This record gives sequence, structure tokens and C-alpha cells, in this order.
Amino acid sequence: MTSLHALLFTCLLFFIVFPTFTFSTLLFQSFNWESWKREGGFYNSIHNSIDDIANAGTTHLWLPPSSQSVAPEGYLPGKLYDLNSSKYGSETELKLLIQALNQKGIKAVADIVINHRTGVRRDDKCGYCYFEGGTSDGRLDWDPSFVCRNDPNFPGTGNIDTGGDFNGAPDIDHLNPRVQKELSEWMNWLKTDIGFHGWRFDFVLGYASSITKLYVQNTSPDFAVGEKWDDMKYGGDGKLDYNQDQHRSGLKQWVEEAGGGVLTAFDFTTKGILQSAVQGELWRLKDSQGKPPGLIGVMPGNAVTFIENHDTFRTWVFPSEKVLLGYVYILTHPGTPCIFYNHYMEWGLKESISKLVAIRKRNGIGSTSSVTIKAAESDLYLAMIDDKVIMKIGPKLDLGTLVPPSYALAYSGLDFAVWEKH
Ligand SMILES: *[C@@H]1O[C@H](CO)[C@@H](O)[C@H](O)[C@H]1NC(C)=O
Repeated sequence: MTSLHALLFTCLLFFIVFPTFTFSTLLFQSFNWESWKREGGFYNSIHNSIDDIANAGTTHLWLPPSSQSVAPEGYLPGKLYDLNSSKYGSETELKLLIQALNQKGIKAVADIVINHRTGVRRDDKCGYCYFEGGTSDGRLDWDPSFVCRNDPNFPGTGNIDTGGDFNGAPDIDHLNPRVQKELSEWMNWLKTDIGFHGWRFDFVLGYASSITKLYVQNTSPDFAVGEKWDDMKYGGDGKLDYNQDQHRSGLKQWVEEAGGGVLTAFDFTTKGILQSAVQGELWRLKDSQGKPPGLIGVMPGNAVTFIENHDTFRTWVFPSEKVLLGYVYILTHPGTPCIFYNHYMEWGLKESISKLVAIRKRNGIGSTSSVTIKAAESDLYLAMIDDKVIMKIGPKLDLGTLVPPSYALAYSGLDFAVWEKH
């Protein structure tokens, strides 16, 4: 084939494969804390599950950190260019997985762990602060001058840290121009050579929002999301406070400072409120302005809603018997929903989640859809989305006249129902 033929063929293929690709982003987290142990290799196992993942309506699949790491889960990375030493599989397996995903119209999102890094050699002052990049040409080969000088456990000689400390490894000095240049190059290599399209930034509390902005600008992802996980406010009785406006304002401010646009933040505010709300406290789901109380109430276009991730699943767990109610909420509401591997693949929720995603698609619900909250009481939350869908969660059965006759039941189950306009 000539290159012109190849180009025409590619265009044709594009139209055949994505004839109606108008659905907005839906993220799927492909892993949990144990996934590196997967029999036969993690990448290969996900490769075998692509049809299921596609059936969930996934547009972007979040993969675990793929570089060589001291910890098997990948969150203590060292040789960033070495994708062959990962417990998740080899570079070749990863590339083949991403190619197969792309053929199904799914893009891959890399987990970018750059706040800290593990070295290969140590000295008495800084500890393991001599780093190797995993290539033979010196890229990413750094020493203690690339580590923040105020790191309490690994004091280097670089600039003062622009964010919080991660105590398990040296915090990298992101004000160092060579750090900025070489990490941007590495991320661009993940795009061009490995096939990633987007980023999930790990522990963005560890460096300034302006640093995230720089890496987004230097690498132009088509989607990016940051993990800014702040503590929520609890009362003296240990109960979550009703008002979490400060929590979500922190997320909003971070997104704005980091440049907005394709950059989003995980909506930890919604996660925290929702998991309390579904335990007989559905009044929590309406803020003092009558809006959803999470980031989706103030910045829905840059909020990624989720029920669980690899960390919260171990430490801050959504009540398991209410997980489907959580999905009814996030899959009918604005924001960009993220489906968690276990829930979809292992909890028997495949069909339920797919039905909810189908309703979302059919009605064109997207990240900036509008929400009108009609009821938020202990035992009933009922909302209308875009004047097209009405949903309720909670055990209350008497809905009075809240659902007009122009709406027909589309899907229901224990303690939830979703209606669509005729
Ligand atoms: C990883 O393996 C692939 C395929 O064998 C090879 O092309 C690549 O150079 C290897 N990378 C490293 C850092 O060893």
C-alpha cells in the first residue's frame, strides 16, 4: 500500500469502528491493590476482558503504574523507562493490550507517579537518591541534587518542595528544569511509543498545581485526572459534617490553578458524602444551594465521580450492599463516572451497570448535564437530569406526584428506580 492508501484505509477504518462516537468520557479503573498477582499476568488478563470492558461503555481505561517499582503495585517507581520489570507484565504485553483497546475505541490512561522516586544507590545523607532511568543514554539518571532539600526522610539538595511530603521515598524537585524536561519527555514517550492518551496523576498533593499544569501543557493528553485526596470534615461524634463546601472548593481551586480544560479531579467530596448518604441519610445529597454537594455541584465538567478505587477499597470503603445505589447516582448525574474493576467484573453488577450506562448514553447525559433535585430526605433522594431522566434512590415508595406521567420506568431494583421521558 502507498502511504496515501494507508491513510485512506485508516480513515475508512475509523468511520467503521466509531460510527457514532459522540458519547462523552467514561473512565474504568482496571485494577485494585491485588491485581499485580493476577494469574497469567495482569495485562494479558485485561486483554482477555476487553469485550466486557467495552460493554460497560468505557472510553478510557485507567491502567496501573507500568514502570519498574520497588513495591509490586507500582507506586514506588524507579527506572521509569523500564516497563519490562513490572509485576503487571512486559512492555510488549502492555503495547499489545493498548493496541487492542484502541481497536475497540478505548484509550489508555497511564498512572503517573512523579511526586517521588526510588533510587538504585544510596549515600548516608539522602538515602536512596541516586536514580537510573532505565535507558543507556543517561535520561532520568539523577542524584540528590534532584531531591527536595526539606524532605524529612531523604534530604537532598534541590529546591524546597512545592507540596506535601511522601514519606516512603525521596520527593523529587519539580522546580528543577531538567526534571520538568525529562519527565515531560518520558510522558511523551508513553504516548508515542507505548500508546497512552491520558494521565491519572498520583498524589498531586505532593507538588504545586502549577507543576501539574506544566506537565499537562508539555504533553497534551486528551484526558487527565488528578488524585487530590484531602480529609473531609467530621463532627465530634465521628459523623461526617453535612457541609463539605470547603472540601470541594479545594478540588475546584486545584483544577483551576492547574489549567482546567481536559484536566479533571477525582470527586472525593461526592464519594465521601454519597457513602454516608446511602446509609439512611439521603438528605446529604442536596447542598445549601439545592445542588449536588460534591465537586459535580460546582464544577461538573472537571469532576470524575467514583464509588471506589484501589486505595479506598482498603481504607475508606463504600458500604458494599449499597454499591449499586452509588452507581445509580454517578451514572445518571453529571461529572465523568469511573467504574471500579471489582464492582463490574466480580460483584455481579455487569448487567446493572451496563443498563445504567445505556440510559446515560440514550439520553445524552454528559459531564455538564443539569440536575434538579426534587427530594432529599433520609429515605428518598429524587432528581431530574436534563429534563430527560428522573432517578431515585432510597427505600421510600410513596413518591406522590414527583414523577410526572410523561416519564416511564426504564430500570429499577432494590431501593432505586430510573425513569425516562417518553
Ligand atoms: C523491554 O523489552 C522490549 C521488548 O523486548 C525492548 O524493546 C525494550 O528495549 C526493553 N526495555 C528495557 C528498558 O529494557
